[in-house]
Amino acid sequence: MSTFNILLTPGDGIGPEVIEEATKVLSAIEKRFSHEFQYEEETIGGAAIDKYGVAMRPEAVSKAKASRAVLFGAVGGPKWDDPAASVRPEDAILGMRKQLGLFANLRPVKIYPELVNASTIKPEVLEGTDMVVIRELTGGLYFGLPKERFTAPDGSRAAVDTLSYSEAEVARILHVGFRLARQRRHKLTSVDKANVLRTGAMWREIATEIGKEYPDVALDHILVDSAAMFLIRRPASFDVIVTENMFGDILTDEAAMLSGSMGMMPSASMGERNPDGTGFGLYEPIHGSAPDITGQKKANPLAAILSAAMLLRLSLGLEAEAKAIEAAVEAVIRDGYRTQDIASSPDANVIDTAKMGTLVAERVQG
Ligand code: IPM
Ligand code: MG
Repeated sequence: MSTFNILLTPGDGIGPEVIEEATKVLSAIEKRFSHEFQYEEETIGGAAIDKYGVAMRPEAVSKAKASRAVLFGAVGGPKWDDPAASVRPEDAILGMRKQLGLFANLRPVKIYPELVNASTIKPEVLEGTDMVVIRELTGGLYFGLPKERFTAPDGSRAAVDTLSYSEAEVARILHVGFRLARQRRHKLTSVDKANVLRTGAMWREIATEIGKEYPDVALDHILVDSAAMFLIRRPASFDVIVTENMFGDILTDEAAMLSGSMGMMPSASMGERNPDGTGFGLYEPIHGSAPDITGQKKANPLAAILSAAMLLRLSLGLEAEAKAIEAAVEAVIRDGYRTQDIASSPDANVIDTAKMGTLVAERVQG
């Protein structure tokens, strides 16, 4: 029996509800494949602000480093929403990403044929959509300095954020994109704003140069505004997309809606990897804390469950186990079970968070 250490950071809102279902499914994996997952847990986000006065204690990072992976719920909520507050729940996720060097964020967009009507996009447009968006995660506008509020000479309010990238930061994320494209349909779309931003022009230049090392990958460049349009006009034309931190934040919420709900979209955040492609990572559903439905048993746990599958594949190298979870999710959807966010017809079989987790776990165990 092999033992793997995993850090759980359920966080706020629906975070704890969906992480509980993900661990339920992981228990089924333990039984079926004779593994043991040993969990540490750490309070983060708004809950940590209440408990410790900070969104993330330094212990969180050391616990993460002592683990093979982090399974992250969500952070934030109205209670901690004062934009002027000096500590914010989001500091936890931003701190984890930066301090653990998780520069590559992978967000796969998969369309389940049974859910095409849950999307606001027409089925014929969605047909064939299967892409991964790679978002640079530790640079760009999120982290560049200066980043501050200040008082202008005339006494009025002013603020600055800085979009800056080094060549090395751009090159390493592009390599992630090219390598992933090689494992898929050999197509990489690099998204920038080269017509206006200096960082964008540099990004495009570096992408073109690195592209020569991957002659088997078809590289194209599009501007981020066009990318936003093409995502809903011809989503099936994309294979792998690679882009800057903030552009990726925005485009992945849009891309999530192709699959009908944010509740379906998992993510992986990774740093440098081993030659076999595995490595330490942080896995989180992209939907956030959803305070409007917290505690109502309505949350869709599938994004968290699918994030656990990515964890098994990318951090533990357990491909068969990851596939078992993905197949179980497909089966539950095929069998007609829906949480409210993906229930597109009035006669849908709507079930709650825990039931959805149980059904997936049962199918994993076979
Ligand atoms: C995401 C989220 C985060 C981000 C927030 C919670 C800081 O929107 O992971 O996409 O902006 O990166
Ligand atoms: Mg976001």
